[in-house]
Amino acid sequence: MIFNGNMSFTILIVDDEEEIGRSLSEIFSCEGYIPYFSTDPGEVPGLLANHEIDLILMDVKMPGTGGIDLLKQIKKMNRPVSVIMISGYPTVDNVVQAMKFGALNFYKKPVDISELLNEIKRLHSVSQARNKATGLHRIYTRNSQMEEILKVIERIAPTDAPVIITGESGTGKELVADTIHALSRRSGKPFIKINCAAIPDALLESDLFGYEQGAFTDAKKQKKGKFELAEGGSVFLDEITELTMKTQGKLLRVLQEKEFERLGGTGVLKANVRIMAATNKPVEDLVSRGTFRDDLFYRLSVIRIHLPPLRERKDDILLLASCFLDLYKESYEKVISGFSSDVNQVLIRHDWPGNIRELKNCVERAVIFCDGGEISMEHLPLQYRDAELGQEETLESAYDMISRQMILDALEKCDGIKQKAAEMLKIHRKTLYNKMKKLGIDG
Ligand SMILES: Nc1ncnc2c1ncn2[C@@H]1O[C@H](COP(=O)(O)OP(=O)(O)OP(=O)(O)O)[C@@H](O)[C@H]1O
Ligand SMILES: [Mg+2]
Repeated sequence: MIFNGNMSFTILIVDDEEEIGRSLSEIFSCEGYIPYFSTDPGEVPGLLANHEIDLILMDVKMPGTGGIDLLKQIKKMNRPVSVIMISGYPTVDNVVQAMKFGALNFYKKPVDISELLNEIKRLHSVSQARNKATGLHRIYTRNSQMEEILKVIERIAPTDAPVIITGESGTGKELVADTIHALSRRSGKPFIKINCAAIPDALLESDLFGYEQGAFTDAKKQKKGKFELAEGGSVFLDEITELTMKTQGKLLRVLQEKEFERLGGTGVLKANVRIMAATNKPVEDLVSRGTFRDDLFYRLSVIRIHLPPLRERKDDILLLASCFLDLYKESYEKVISGFSSDVNQVLIRHDWPGNIRELKNCVERAVIFCDGGEISMEHLPLQYRDAELGQEETLESAYDMISRQMILDALEKCDGIKQKAAEMLKIHRKTLYNKMKKLGIDG
């Protein structure tokens, strides 16, 4: 998968006069922005739903849906998009309405281009800063071990150092790679992901390094490999331990010498890519067994990020569950207030062998089955309910579970300040410390 990072800034021009659309598009693309142009206001909601658009530049007077009505519709869609209105004959009423419904500015035609470009430049830099901020914030956590990992990510993202991300399936390895790329200087350049387990050995090498015409029977013409296509950007090699020894050797050369050759070629090509890799296998064991090159492993482990399984960061479970609930509530358009307390208990107690992916799927399923109100046991997949029946519930374990949740909630509300949390819970600060220790809450 390739996606462009956050350097690009996309501008949609909506005007029934083609001439205006065409000339603005030309100016914007010369400035390095990505323009879209539409003469049909009815097309805009669809365009917004399917493309990442940063700014809409919109005429007020258009046949069919007028600019102000369209502005109202756009605001209802709740997308992070800015709107600037333009009009040949602005009336006070139009300007007031436009501002009221959230337009950033109002330009009179003919538009003063240098003023408009200045404003766009400012919006672009704000959006870049916002993208950078949302980078890390996509990884939800309140676990202290994970917070340390976030600090590492922030520190190493701007460097070109190779990274290896390890952890069980579903712990967020790919999300971490996405975040590192998004926070890096390479974010405006391609980010190419390759799942080494999904591509047959025979094809993987040519997929990575490309080939020259005639390199093998089917090589009708020259083809660029992923390292060439990612020029200036990053490459993510998922399930890296699946590489054959031969390909491992070639990858090592890319890491060490920053060079490679296309299959069947003699010319040496330079690779300007940052390499990230991931695996859920115990890579050290594979190294000692000799199936994974030790020199490659050491080279990749300049930065090693190990993501703990969810069962070792139980304090993240309810936070993640409620984030996923918010996500799916919105996409399935449901009014759901939260989880019932017995569901919370099941979620905390479960072992989550599929880690965060399993939790995310579990919440999605519950949202689909819940018609409103609270998510309760009957909305959970059967295996979670059955597991619950087998659990021996004691008064003490239930009490611990509730105490744990109350303490975590209080700490969150008090920004982690224990004195305040203790006051809120109406217990002594020392009692809070003791309980936190007993219940395994980091602080
Ligand atoms: N801390 C987190 N906050 C929010 N979402 C998360 C977090 N960690 C993981 N996810 C989500 O969980 C899902 C699984 O994560 P991801 O695909 O990154 O896992 P993985 O370690 O690459 O798994 P696999 O080994 O199976 O490839 C994704 O939808 C991801 O967005
Ligand atoms: Mg993955």
